[in-house]
Amino acid sequence: MFRLGVIGSGSGTNFQAIASAIANGLLPGVEVAVVISDVKDARILERAEKMNVPAFYIDPGKYRTKLEPQIEQKYANTLNDYSVDLVVLAGFMRMVKHPLLSAYRGRIINIHPSLLPAFPGLASFRQAWEYGVKITGCTVHFVDEGMDTGPIIGQRAVPILNGDTPEDVHARIQVEEHILYPACIKAIAEGRVSVSGRHVAVDSPGDTVNVV
Ligand code: GAR
Repeated sequence: MFRLGVIGSGSGTNFQAIASAIANGLLPGVEVAVVISDVKDARILERAEKMNVPAFYIDPGKYRTKLEPQIEQKYANTLNDYSVDLVVLAGFMRMVKHPLLSAYRGRIINIHPSLLPAFPGLASFRQAWEYGVKITGCTVHFVDEGMDTGPIIGQRAVPILNGDTPEDVHARIQVEEHILYPACIKAIAEGRVSVSGRHVAVDSPGDTVNVV
């Protein structure tokens, strides 16, 4: 099996979309091995428990936007304990640094609610709305040292319409996230993704979901 370790801070709808895709047979050979959160009462942990997926809260320590190295090591140890092949950040609101990045280099992916490189950082759907762009979307990318800077695996676009609130925009983006993330994971699990510098090639013969 190709084993996912999902890390998230919030409601966990992306985790749910991935778990549902697996339950519906859309990701053959893939399983969620473990879910970890830095937020004790995060909905993502509840959702995981309901689906009988091992779920852990790991105290994030004193920083707000990252983890101390010794705490990050605990995250890495838990992922190791569950023999994770791919780390899937799903609404994890902290930067990943070392030692996690070095332990899983090239094997950590993130979903971000904008068309990167536009609007990195927090509340990107709000940043896009405030800027007044007409098209935004979501991006799945490999994680590197920067903030939302790693090589892009897939993107999907949505319009920003007259009268939208930032929350309307986020809701529209999330519909696309729930399609894009499982599709990207499927492509990686099936060995159809290759990286050359910033360029990620996704081979999608016969795939109904176009991830690029
Ligand atoms: C998603 O929209 C994801 O793109 C965003 O958080 C939301 C989590 O939703 N991630 C970031 O902003 C990362 N900086 P979920 O918990 O329902 O999957």
